[in-house]
Formats: sequence, structure tokens, C-alpha cells
Amino acid sequence: MQAIQLRAPGGLDHLDVVDLAAPGEPGPGEIKVRLHASSLNFHDYAVVAGMIPAADGRIPMSDGAGVVEAVGEGVEEFAVGDAVVSTFFPDWLEGPARVGDFATTPGDGVDGYAREQVVRPANWFTHQPKGYSHAESATLTTAGLTAWRSLVVDGGLKAGDSVLVLGTGGVSIFALQFARLMGARVIATSSSDAKLERLRELGAEHTINYRDTPEWGKRVLELTHGEGVDHVVEVGGPGTLPQSIDAVKIGGHISLIGVLTGREGEVPTAKLMAKQARLQGLIVGSRRHQMEMIKAIEAANLKPVIDREFALADIADAFRHQESGKHFGKICLSY
Ligand SMILES: NC(=O)c1ccc[n+]([C@@H]2O[C@H](COP(=O)([O-])OP(=O)(O)OC[C@H]3O[C@@H](n4cnc5c(N)ncnc54)[C@H](OP(=O)(O)O)[C@@H]3O)[C@@H](O)[C@H]2O)c1
Repeated sequence: MQAIQLRAPGGLDHLDVVDLAAPGEPGPGEIKVRLHASSLNFHDYAVVAGMIPAADGRIPMSDGAGVVEAVGEGVEEFAVGDAVVSTFFPDWLEGPARVGDFATTPGDGVDGYAREQVVRPANWFTHQPKGYSHAESATLTTAGLTAWRSLVVDGGLKAGDSVLVLGTGGVSIFALQFARLMGARVIATSSSDAKLERLRELGAEHTINYRDTPEWGKRVLELTHGEGVDHVVEVGGPGTLPQSIDAVKIGGHISLIGVLTGREGEVPTAKLMAKQARLQGLIVGSRRHQMEMIKAIEAANLKPVIDREFALADIADAFRHQESGKHFGKICLSY
């Protein structure tokens, strides 16, 4: 079977297309999946670019979607032919967060889904949403679930709330879509006026070019008549957090999920305290959260925004496209 392996020390020129032996038959509690798609996340980029050290020969990609080819003894949840999508934290099935690293995350601590077949415990997967393609399903594991948990599970989003999303990457576009789905108002930022236009088409009520308006937190306050927003989906990290604190409502919620501007920096703590805002770090979600999100997606017939699809062998080009920042929404691999 075709697969991708990352050679140490990483880097987009160290992604080898290889022919690996097909996996054997599934054991008790396992399923064999013919994978057909994955999707690119910033985390996958950090692994393949060598920013996160990975084992030599690691198979990258956290997201995987495909069809069940065989089921092991005792598996009742899935049958041959079912369309399935992987989970980000295989050991976090339900309940409160209890994983604080990427040691069990496919494509980082363990081999991921840039390959045609895999045998894994059945509960490392859920059913795909009905009517979704494999590429569409593959967008859900990381980006979709992070946005869902941030706003709906932990944010307690309700109709009429206001939501600020930053940039037009995978997580932010899902956050915009879920916010609209739940009847919330959205303010969205981007570095590109053309992308701002597309954000408005997707239902953003107000848009801000964060390059032209470096103090976009103040602009959000103006747009909300001095109140601020109920929720911020914070994907930037240290370079954007001060503006997000400006933008949030007194008592609002900031989900700190991203590190696009770096891993450490100053936080205006006094302002955060005065805002009495909740600043919450979070990483993706549980298998139960994924199943609940998929129920909502099916009920609302929501479809992800896919920017472009690449063949598995063109994985380096796919990451170069992500690196360019030209994308809007998700970049996928189809195979
Ligand atoms: N904690 C978690 O569970 C979790 C899960 C998924 C992702 N993340 C993190 O969330 C971040 C986004 O991930 P992703 O996969 O959605 O990335 P992505 O698809 O690669 O998104 C990149 C986009 O972010 C925007 N951006 C870049 N710098 C920005 C800035 N200074 N201010 C505002 N927007 C900026 C750009 O949008 P424009 O081109 O429109 O300017 C860019 O196109 C990453 O740091 C990732 O590690 C965390």
C-alpha cells in the first residue's frame, strides 16, 4: 500500500512516498479501514516541517476517513462497508479532558493516516456524517471538533451570542459555520480583502482586515456598541491575545486554541482580570464530542469549506499551499 513517511529531522523535502506491506486482518475489537482522505492542520504542518520532533519514519496526518474493510471479533458498532472518520485522542472517549499531550495522537506520537490502509481499535473511529465525502469527513477530526468544542461544548454558545473568529484557516471557518448554525452573530478577521468578502458570503456580519487595522480589538468594541463579543476563538496566540482581550465582553469566553503567532508572549493580565473573562486553553475534544458534532452536522446539513484537494503523493505540495497562506478553509488529501 502507498504511504508517506517523514524522515528525520523533518522538513517538506523529507516526506517520502513509500510502498509498505498491507496490514493483516483485524484482531478482537479492531477494524481494518481503507483510508481515502485526510486533511491538513497547522499541527500536521508543525510535525512535517520539523517544528515538533517526530520519530524517523513517522507516518504523518491526524485526520483519516475511509471505509471499513474488515471487522474483528466483538466489534458491533461498525460493519464492513461503513464510512468512518478517525478521532484525535484515541484514549479520550468521553467525560472531562484528560489528555495533555500528543503522545497518543495519530500523526504525532503514533503513526497517522497518510496511508491507504490501517488496522486500529474500532473506537479510534466514529461513523462519518451521512452524505459526506471522505475528504469532507476528514476535515472534522481536528479542525471541526476544535471549533465545535470551543463554542458549543465549553463555550455554551446560544442563539443571539456574538463570536469573533480570527483569519480564514480550517478552525476559524468551522467556528464561523457553527456559530451561524447556532444562531449567533459573527465578526471575522483576515489579512485579505478578497477573503473578507467570502467570509461575508458565509454569514459574517462584520469583517475586519487585521493588517490594515492592527488595533482590531477596539474595532470589535465599536462594532458591538462598546460591549465586546461573548466568545473569541483565539487561534493566533501571543501576537493576537491582547487584541482578543480588548475585543471580549465583560464575563466573556476566550478559547485559546492556537499558536499561529508563536508559543510564548506577554499577556495583559490586569485587563483580562478587569474584563472578568474566562481564558481557556483547549485541545480538540473527545470521541463523544465528535459523535455529538456529527449529529448536529447531519441535522443542519452543514458542509465544510474545502479549499483544494491533493493526491497523497503530492503531500509536500499540499503543505506548501498551506504554508503560502493562500487557502480559505480546509486543504485535503484524497486517495
Ligand atoms: N488547540 C487545538 O485543539 C487546535 C486544533 C486545531 C488547530 N489549532 C491551532 O489553531 C491554529 C490554526 O490552525 P488551522 O489548522 O486552522 O490553521 P490554518 O488552516 O493553517 O490557518 C491559517 C490561517 O490563519 C490566519 N492567520 C495567520 N496569522 C494570523 C494572525 N496573526 N491573525 C489572525 N489570523 C491569522 C490566516 O488567515 P488569513 O489568510 O485570512 O489572514 C491563515 O490563512 C494553529 O495554531 C493550530 O495549531 C489548535
